[in-house]
Amino acid sequence: MMTTTNTEQIGLIDRISGPVVQASNMLGSKLYDVARVGEEKLVGEIIRLTGDLATIQVYENTEGLTPGEPVHLTNAPLSVELGPGLMRQIFDGIQRPLPVIREVSGDFIARGIEIPGLDHKKLWDFAPNLKVGDKVVGGDILGEIPETPTVDFKLMVPPNIQGKLEFIAQRGDYTVDDLSATVVTPTGDKVDLQFYHRWPVRQPRPYHLRLPSSIPLITGQRIFDTIAPIAKGGTGAIPGGFGTGKTVSQHQLAKWSDAKIVVYVGCGERGNEMTDVLREFPKLVDPYTGGPLMDRTVLIANTSNMPVAAREASVYTGITLAEFFRDMGYDVAMMADSTSRWAEAMREISGRLEEMPGEESFPAYLASRIAEYYERAGRVLTIGSKPREASITVVGAISPPGGDFSEPVTQNTLRIVKVFWALSKDLASRRHFPAIDYLLSYTLYWAALEDYYSDNVSPEFPELRAEALALLQKDKELQDIVALVGPDALPPSEKIILETARMLKEDFLQQNAFHETDSFCSLEKQYLMLKTILRFYEKAQDLYRRGAIVSDIFEHELVVRIARMKYIERSEIETSLNELIKEIDGLTIQAFGVED
Ligand SMILES: Nc1ncnc2c1ncn2[C@@H]1O[C@H](COP(=O)(O)OP(=O)(O)OP(=O)(O)O)[C@@H](O)[C@H]1O
Ligand SMILES: [Mg+2]
Repeated sequence: MMTTTNTEQIGLIDRISGPVVQASNMLGSKLYDVARVGEEKLVGEIIRLTGDLATIQVYENTEGLTPGEPVHLTNAPLSVELGPGLMRQIFDGIQRPLPVIREVSGDFIARGIEIPGLDHKKLWDFAPNLKVGDKVVGGDILGEIPETPTVDFKLMVPPNIQGKLEFIAQRGDYTVDDLSATVVTPTGDKVDLQFYHRWPVRQPRPYHLRLPSSIPLITGQRIFDTIAPIAKGGTGAIPGGFGTGKTVSQHQLAKWSDAKIVVYVGCGERGNEMTDVLREFPKLVDPYTGGPLMDRTVLIANTSNMPVAAREASVYTGITLAEFFRDMGYDVAMMADSTSRWAEAMREISGRLEEMPGEESFPAYLASRIAEYYERAGRVLTIGSKPREASITVVGAISPPGGDFSEPVTQNTLRIVKVFWALSKDLASRRHFPAIDYLLSYTLYWAALEDYYSDNVSPEFPELRAEALALLQKDKELQDIVALVGPDALPPSEKIILETARMLKEDFLQQNAFHETDSFCSLEKQYLMLKTILRFYEKAQDLYRRGAIVSDIFEHELVVRIARMKYIERSEIETSLNELIKEIDGLTIQAFGVED
């Protein structure tokens, strides 16, 4: 956050309403500038200006503030510090490191404390890429710092700066406050750069060009990767009622996605849910490196007992950090759990402002705020004279009250995002996990991703996927008939469809997040599993046509082996599954007591 500067007093508090404070005598202040409110200098943001009256949303507990206390201006918008040292951090909604806050003030977060987002004392080992005399533009990489064993920090020229290097730091150890470079601009101005810069969170960072969404974000989750995949740079939503699996899904994405950087924003409904995140994440092992997952993760944590305005800001803080890593050239995955808590923060503040309420008392601008947020996702060519391909994939969980998807947050999000992973209470109660409704869920990226799957997994993949989806759809129709007239009314060929769909649901779609092997499933394994089930389906139809009894077919020993496919270890996938397919192909009608 902004830890500034020259806070001259100008205003006086008139009125306090929860997190919203009205101050008078505020001429000269600017909309969205940060103000420090009261004797304790609580951090706030000016969200409305009328004449000399300012309305300020305060990011800290306003209890005990009284009218007549001073308001100081910072003349700068709500900003974050962007530099080395973000990885492994746990911040609050306005980028104050939670562990440092706790050190300074104990468990109870003291108010008005100024803690910078970055550690300004730590030394970083910098190696320059450029030399004096080189021409640079915003986004160019001045040099690198090995920030964690997994992430190299790229020190970039901030956007909007260009010129010739008059100075660049030599290889050595520096704090973020040290001088990294001096740029002489075309107009002859000298700009001194440090090892960090500030960026206003509500302003998207620039990029050069948007790229098509043609590469999947591989998640290792079969329901996602095979049924409704998301593209790198894509947007997705996971709405679900209480306890249906939003948090587990988001954790699985954070853990297994093939993104280089994870930004995880927790807007917890319950305090202990965030405590779980804070306790669990530091223990998670990065499946790609074997090191701690935190080496490539930033956590932003808001519990329900933190002030509501900080929750509103946390989503912007998160996406700004994500953009910063994108600019370095990385694929970033950003998760927010849950965006409903963010929307509720907007609603509360809007209510305090006595704005005209929209649907279910959410502000009329709810839709545009949601859209603006998701629009900051994307796969892009970065700025810089050597543009890099990079992406931000954004996935938001939504907790609609009563699990009812017709409410405004879900509806407005679904209008924007291109992947819908619908959690189902019914599946969760049957302990079908992940409880994602495979028929209701959808992806709008399939057409753009199909070639990737054909080229990199198997040319058969798109067809197998389509066949599986068709069987699941047919299963649904048949289930409706069964519910009316019982299973015996179905012809054997349709019983085979029911049995195969059961295999697809139990042996393929169900995936245990807590099972060591099953937690992650490679695309190759997904393909071979699908192929195995569908090969068995063909065989079953064939055997039935030649006289075998359907129930006998699905009691065969191979069916049990199919059910165990998900537990096959990585190193044995290919041989085991190809062997299984061969045995299915080799099944003869004689095995079912029928003479050919
Ligand atoms: N993929 C999964 N594999 C195994 N179990 C799962 C999976 N997904 C969810 N569960 C089970 O469902 C429980 C609830 O999941 P989770 O906490 O993610 O729900 P939630 O939607 O975030 O709930 P809340 O509304 O309370 O935030 C988990 O504790 C776990 O037992
Ligand atoms: Mg949850």
